[in-house]
Amino acid sequence: MTESHPKITKAVIPAAGLGTRFLPATKATPKEMLPVVDKPAIQYVVEEAVAAGLDDVLMITGRNKRPLEDHFDRNYELESALAKKGDESRLAKVQESSDLATMHYVRQGDPRGLGHAVLCAAPHVGREPFAVLLGDDLIDPRDPLLARMVEIQERHGGSVIALMEVAPEQIHLYGCAAVEATSEGDVVKVTDLVEKPEAADAPSNYAIIGRYVLDPHVFDILRKTEPGRGGEIQLTDALQQLAADEKIGGPVHGVVFKGRRYDTGDRGDYLRAIVRLACEREDLGPDFKAWLRSYVTEEM
Ligand code: G1P
Repeated sequence: MTESHPKITKAVIPAAGLGTRFLPATKATPKEMLPVVDKPAIQYVVEEAVAAGLDDVLMITGRNKRPLEDHFDRNYELESALAKKGDESRLAKVQESSDLATMHYVRQGDPRGLGHAVLCAAPHVGREPFAVLLGDDLIDPRDPLLARMVEIQERHGGSVIALMEVAPEQIHLYGCAAVEATSEGDVVKVTDLVEKPEAADAPSNYAIIGRYVLDPHVFDILRKTEPGRGGEIQLTDALQQLAADEKIGGPVHGVVFKGRRYDTGDRGDYLRAIVRLACEREDLGPDFKAWLRSYVTEEM
């Protein structure tokens, strides 16, 4: 590992959003705490960072996000009650989230967009490459996307974003990348980026999904980035500048993901994620699948 390619250890998870798509559930509970089967969505994301070797996790939070901090902290009262009962397996579940990673928190204050949220991480991250994981996207742990992105960043330097091919009518929901092929099948060079284009203006059907490994020069650009789409400071706009001029912070590559991804920011996809993951669970799956089969054949 050379000086210019320091090892990536830090993950940044923006979690300041209001979660209005899930009201009223998110009136007093952060959307990141909504359970996917029996684990809050955010814990899957932290586990993914840790699995890729990033165990220094900074969450960008906001008002009403205290439950996030509590979830990744010890709960002595609950732990001692379970220990007294000798309930080792539940005790382990309680301790799992507090033992996962070294957690840090910073508040965003004004919600000025994803780019602004990432900029709040600058004092903590310093001048090292780092990862950003968006909580609405869950990547199945059997398809280790982030580890692959870290590997590509360590090889090429610069920044790496996760891309997925989507149907043209879906592209307006995502940042979209213009790309060139490389000698590796799942890696592309990103030449241009546009945030949430209309299908007719989209340079491709490669959508950015919520995983990024970024060169710290992105902070310098974000400080100067004007509000873009939706009046917000867009991370995509800052990345577009990195892609346009390799001299600033190295190249931008994309890893094309073909694995399992669940969008827990959308109510329909959230339900699909729960059903799918519940079906695959060894403890719940057999009974749940039997019920689901009869429900689908008899009730629908
Ligand atoms: C954000 C980004 C967008 C990206 C998406 C992935 O949008 O701005 O470029 O494609 O996450 O989930 P959001 O979904 O937060 O509006």
